[in-house]
Amino acid sequence: MIYKVALIGYGYWGPKLARNFLNSNNFEISCIVDKSLKNLNKAKQIFPTSKFYQNHKMINVNEIDLVVICSPTKFHYEMAKFFLKSNHVLVEKPLSLNVKKVVELETWSKKNNKLLFVDYPFIFSGSISFVYKIIKNKRFGKLLEIESFREQAPIRNDANVVWDLGVHDISILKYLLNSNPIKVRGLKYNTVKIKMKDTAYINLLYKNNLKVFIKNSWISPTKIRLIKFKFQKAIITCDENEPLYKIKIYKKNNKNSTRYKLEIPDIDISEPLYNLVNYIYKSIKKKQNPIFAKNFNVSITKVLEKI
Ligand SMILES: NC(=O)c1ccc[n+]([C@@H]2O[C@H](COP(=O)([O-])OP(=O)(O)OC[C@H]3O[C@@H](n4cnc5c(N)ncnc54)[C@H](O)[C@@H]3O)[C@@H](O)[C@H]2O)c1
Repeated sequence: MIYKVALIGYGYWGPKLARNFLNSNNFEISCIVDKSLKNLNKAKQIFPTSKFYQNHKMINVNEIDLVVICSPTKFHYEMAKFFLKSNHVLVEKPLSLNVKKVVELETWSKKNNKLLFVDYPFIFSGSISFVYKIIKNKRFGKLLEIESFREQAPIRNDANVVWDLGVHDISILKYLLNSNPIKVRGLKYNTVKIKMKDTAYINLLYKNNLKVFIKNSWISPTKIRLIKFKFQKAIITCDENEPLYKIKIYKKNNKNSTRYKLEIPDIDISEPLYNLVNYIYKSIKKKQNPIFAKNFNVSITKVLEKI
């Protein structure tokens, strides 16, 4: 069975999603919507047989299985609500900017028996799956601290840096720890004169005294996507900018040592968006959505709202 996709928003991120649906044998991009004619023309070069519209209400919902919403964040809620009546929906992160709206979308999805997915790409990455297994099998003892540094990204005018970049950290934490923080503290400010807060320092405390420190900033000359997981017996770094060696394990010589032995494990380096596309295919086929069940989106949005 080949599922038909309508994609809304062909700007920066939309083409990356489109490429991954194109590379899958299980989906076909039937139509692309963008209010910009220039961006629609770019899409026509790659998808000559698709239909093209400037308004999402032109999509014939009866001909579509999955609607992918990659428009600016301020449109996510209205568009998702509109399509969840008749289609499965994948929405770009952040799903929406408040808990009430996210709860409403989840309710719509359940009521109409339509699956709702959100593109939190890192939870579909080989690197985060690797760390997930290490935490689960306690290979390096207790997890004591996590530090995440996420710097440089396009400036947004409809969501601040926490909703834009911090959402990656909070979704990774929810996926890895399957729990919510007990304490949430956030410091947000502007380093340049723009509408939205461009920098944030976030402090979270989880059960078992696990401390988390997150730095998010759009304003940086270098792109950083680095997480350090500090266990009793090792420190694992996860650097998404590394093409191959994303995970490095620094094993401690003994418990209190500050000297380490480096190990670089083999991990799955397939594109997270490709894994997401496969996950969506299996979910639609089996009518199950395990990752997003149990209020995954609501929990994440609650933490983001507190920050
Ligand atoms: N998952 C990720 O890692 C990731 C990365 C980048 C962006 N995003 C998310 O993707 C979304 C889009 O971001 P982007 O960087 O591609 O933005 P963008 O501005 O580059 O692209 C948005 C596109 O939507 C079009 N558009 C705007 N209003 C529209 C409307 N009403 N109807 C149809 N089309 C409309 C614009 O013309 C543009 O082509 C954002 O929510 C962002 O947070 C996610």
